[in-house]
Amino acid sequence: MTLDARERLIVALDLPSVADAEKMVARLGDAVWFYKIGYQLGFAGGLSFASRLIADGKQIFLDFKLHDIGNTVQKGVESVARLGATFLTVHAYPQTMKAAVEGKRGSTLRILAVTVLTSYDDTDLAAAGYDMTVGELAAARAAQARDIGVDGLVCSAEEVTKLRDIAGPGMALVTPGIRPAGSAVGDQKRIMTPARAIEAGADYLVVGRPIVDAHDPKAAAEAIVAEIALAAGK
Ligand code: C5P
Repeated sequence: MTLDARERLIVALDLPSVADAEKMVARLGDAVWFYKIGYQLGFAGGLSFASRLIADGKQIFLDFKLHDIGNTVQKGVESVARLGATFLTVHAYPQTMKAAVEGKRGSTLRILAVTVLTSYDDTDLAAAGYDMTVGELAAARAAQARDIGVDGLVCSAEEVTKLRDIAGPGMALVTPGIRPAGSAVGDQKRIMTPARAIEAGADYLVVGRPIVDAHDPKAAAEAIVAEIALAAGK
């Protein structure tokens, strides 16, 4: 997959209002091409804002982690596809993934599967009724996602190498938990620098607070793009 370094940086717009998001997007300007919108902004007017960003030429990742009966997922994904978003997350249940792949048919939308939420450990899985470790379930679901024709996976940078073996070269691996050297870790537990995540084989990096909370967000974004370009050129 040959991507421009700038296209590989996805900035998480984890902000409470469209007004805040508009200010951030204006500050970032041409430095950022790709934005992620999740529950917080999405349910605060973020979907019409996403349409405006798409009209302005930006790419949008809707991180809504859909999971419902197949018909509902398929119809929802058809609407997201009409919006012009580039990425949409769904939970990696076979029925949900099949419906999402059906719903995006004929569009440029790409479906990303979330294998196992990173806040879950083996105890949480047992409490939810699974008789598998997180590693086993993530690997099984990655293989199902590949077989169903899902376009990519969301995974931590530590999982990239293992999941690439399962996913093959064609699936996009999208990695949050990125921290440039010296930046605040916050609540992230398994972190990696942009350069190391790219070297491990990540296609896209999702970065929130290290850019959005920076004194100079545009400079922070430019520094990460430069680090991606350098690591990708190696
Ligand atoms: O601010 P920070 O760089 O930690 O933001 C990372 C973004 O990626 C957030 O929007 C967060 O919800 C998301 N994310 C994550 N870990 C996952 C999946 C998504 O941090 N496993």
